[in-house]
Amino acid sequence: MSELAVLRLPVLQGNVEIMTHFFLPSGLLWGVGSSAYQTEGAWDKDGKGPSIWDAFTHKKGKVFRSETGDSARNGYYKVKDDIQLLKELKANHYLLSISWPRIMPTGIKTEQVNEKGIQFYNDTINSLLENNIIPIVSLYHWDLPQVLQETYGGWQNISTMNYFNDYANLCFEKFGDRVKHWITFSDPWAVDVKGYDTGEHAPGLKPGECSAYKAAHHIIKAHAKVWHSYNDTWHSEQQGMVGISLTRSWGEPIDPHSQTDKAAAERYIRFHLGWFANPIYKGDYPEVMKNYVGKKSAQQGLGTSRLPTFSVQEKTYIKGILDFLGIPILLFPFLQVPSYNTDYDLAELVDPKWPAPGPKWLYSVPWGFRRLLNFIKTQYGNPLIYVTENGVAEKYLTGYIDEILKALNDGVNVKGYTAWSLLDKFEWNEGFSERFGFYHIDFKTKNEPRHPKASADYYKKIISANGFPNPREVMSIANSLMAHMEMVTEIVLPTVFTLCILISIVLLIFYLRNHS
Ligand SMILES: *[C@@H]1O[C@H](CO)[C@@H](O)[C@H](O)[C@H]1NC(C)=O
Repeated sequence: MSELAVLRLPVLQGNVEIMTHFFLPSGLLWGVGSSAYQTEGAWDKDGKGPSIWDAFTHKKGKVFRSETGDSARNGYYKVKDDIQLLKELKANHYLLSISWPRIMPTGIKTEQVNEKGIQFYNDTINSLLENNIIPIVSLYHWDLPQVLQETYGGWQNISTMNYFNDYANLCFEKFGDRVKHWITFSDPWAVDVKGYDTGEHAPGLKPGECSAYKAAHHIIKAHAKVWHSYNDTWHSEQQGMVGISLTRSWGEPIDPHSQTDKAAAERYIRFHLGWFANPIYKGDYPEVMKNYVGKKSAQQGLGTSRLPTFSVQEKTYIKGILDFLGIPILLFPFLQVPSYNTDYDLAELVDPKWPAPGPKWLYSVPWGFRRLLNFIKTQYGNPLIYVTENGVAEKYLTGYIDEILKALNDGVNVKGYTAWSLLDKFEWNEGFSERFGFYHIDFKTKNEPRHPKASADYYKKIISANGFPNPREVMSIANSLMAHMEMVTEIVLPTVFTLCILISIVLLIFYLRNHS
């Protein structure tokens, strides 16, 4: 039987914080982000090999309306146009990802390197720099070369770590003279849980066929290997930074005086952020994760834990290898109940009163973000943080930016903020049904013109002011958000007590609901 505990939103009445900071320290990077598969298109052009997302979306029924990223936003052909939009926004950095199979069609360097792919990224990087926009480059935003998946089992196979390291080294060699901010993996939590546990994302595997823990284990080692490669071979010459972009979920105890509830909330955070952050900052998985997965595995009659272990050498090799931490703050669903999700003995509740910024599965809960940032500060030695995927509509943008300002005041080391994203684009298993862009794309018109939304204009003003252009307006938005949250506590409590089930609530900006 699961151990029961209940989590809920904290009561905010009486201690609503008034914003006092409206401007960011100078030098904070303001930017916009996107990823290769979601924007480039040209999935089989100029020598690009297929990725697991090409294979996945080409299977009927995997994605909403069976849409694919075959053409995505045709970003492959529109580099100059899209950089003009970044310039219009006055963004000072752009987070993009490199498609591994575009520059190595099979994923294996010794088999083939695609010069046209390298040329494409060279042109992109050069155009950004010509426009005074700093490129922040993610090496892995989910599009593993399909050959590696098909032939060797992808991240289930430790060999993938070595192929990834070869690929990363090629990127450092070709682009590292100009790119100084590297992200090894964008949201490995989503890669593992959605790709290797719930099967909602490519490669679409489920427990029994694979293990999300094993895939994660290899990804953590791959991050370490790439960081060491950069440090040993490229750092002295290129002087850049290598970080990772980690998942972002927050839980609160329903009764702050209950030890069980406090432990449940903490367990929740350790199973999400801690899964990756602990090995990287402390050399091993969180104790609570080792205990729970070990206990469950034993109950399931397994001789060893499904959570792999690091050797003593590996612990030293992996620990402390991070130049900065990226925190993407879009939440993806984890309401399903397969192995990983049942290991930590919690169920989750989403309240219908959370402000929804548009897509049916997103919720805006900005204040949880500040808590997460503070947790990272105290647990992991106040690392350098870039907020890497945050966005949607104008009033939510305000809420999150405000929480970052407060977190800065708490002493959290935030150095950059990346709104997500430049254009409406392919949203993974949701296809094109959800629109996150600052710019709308008119697909029905020839050349697919891009039109700015109201949020583009607002973000532009925030960037120009290096903070909020009009503090009074911000206050009224914040007050309406707070009002929403007070309603939340009233609604949640009766539900929780009536059902008397174990419920954890994820406190973060955006949340998925009704999604399984
Ligand atoms: C892992 O990949 C290597 C190739 O790099 C292959 O020889 C080996 O058979 C693969 N292992 C599994 C279990 O697929």
